[in-house]
Amino acid sequence: MLVTGGSGYLGGWVARLAREHWDITATYAAHAGAEPGIVWRRLDVRDQAGVNRLIRGLQPKVIVHTAALNPGQGNDMEAVNVAGTANVARAAAEAGARLIHISTDVVFDGQRGNYTEDDAPNPLSPYGETKARAEEAVARAGGDAVIVRASLIYGWRPTVARAAQWMIEAIERGDPVRLWSDEMRCPIWVESLAAALVEVAAIDYSGFLHLGGAQAVSRHDFGVALLDFAGADSSLVEAVPSPTDQLRPLNCTMDSSRARELLDTPLPGVGDVLARGSEIQ
Ligand SMILES: NC(=O)c1ccc[n+]([C@@H]2O[C@H](COP(=O)([O-])OP(=O)(O)OC[C@H]3O[C@@H](n4cnc5c(N)ncnc54)[C@H](OP(=O)(O)O)[C@@H]3O)[C@@H](O)[C@H]2O)c1
Repeated sequence: MLVTGGSGYLGGWVARLAREHWDITATYAAHAGAEPGIVWRRLDVRDQAGVNRLIRGLQPKVIVHTAALNPGQGNDMEAVNVAGTANVARAAAEAGARLIHISTDVVFDGQRGNYTEDDAPNPLSPYGETKARAEEAVARAGGDAVIVRASLIYGWRPTVARAAQWMIEAIERGDPVRLWSDEMRCPIWVESLAAALVEVAAIDYSGFLHLGGAQAVSRHDFGVALLDFAGADSSLVEAVPSPTDQLRPLNCTMDSSRARELLDTPLPGVGDVLARGSEIQ
């Protein structure tokens, strides 16, 4: 199995969980991976020749493509998320490798919520736009592919995920933390998402697959739950409506019932995960 973005939060968990069953090669771009039991290779997905060389050389059975730029990670999202994914998808199809591509719930416009795999994307944000176009690039490449749409990813090991880290840091500085009360998502624990992806790698399924946690929560309630879990002072959090001067996807909750039918891996909601979480710190 080849895991692109193995040095990242989700990719790191996929590589760790999959190495029990697969020989893993994982890639990094700027932050070299150190996890043992994994072959680490440097890869910039924007480098088409480099992508081709790696995939032709390895001939992986499965590629889990997690490498991407998230919002706030620089302005090269177009090249990394769209062109980079196209490079990986074309090389995967040419090598006959099964591709599991990681997309996002914000490909939807959030007008309705509870989106199924049959709903049409209509992204509102620049990030959502690049991820929607990446999905199209995967479909165009024509290989055996699963496009997994994940909701907000959270977790606390080996480090706290970005979803909570920025809030914890703001509270430590004494800065106000304002969280949107009108934006709904189905946050997914990184460890359930990674386990589900490892399971998807081994089943006979292609097409779209929604992987969200069982509980729909507002960004505010999600943030407060994460801060309470981390032992930070959530009384400093203010619930506010999202800014009206920006077009934002408000309700990007997803219907993940197809994944629940297909997979043995449970996809618990944030309340259940955090209630059990203190036992697995
Ligand atoms: N985080 C969320 O809440 C969320 C929600 C839904 C979907 N997703 C999707 O899930 C996937 C993983 O997200 P994440 O939060 O785990 O991201 P992350 O922790 O930021 O990791 C991103 C990975 O991509 C690599 N990368 C960045 N630029 C690259 C390039 N030019 N070439 C090759 N690799 C590159 C990074 O390598 P270095 O660190 O070595 O530079 C890192 O390994 C992404 O596709 C994201 O769009 C994330």
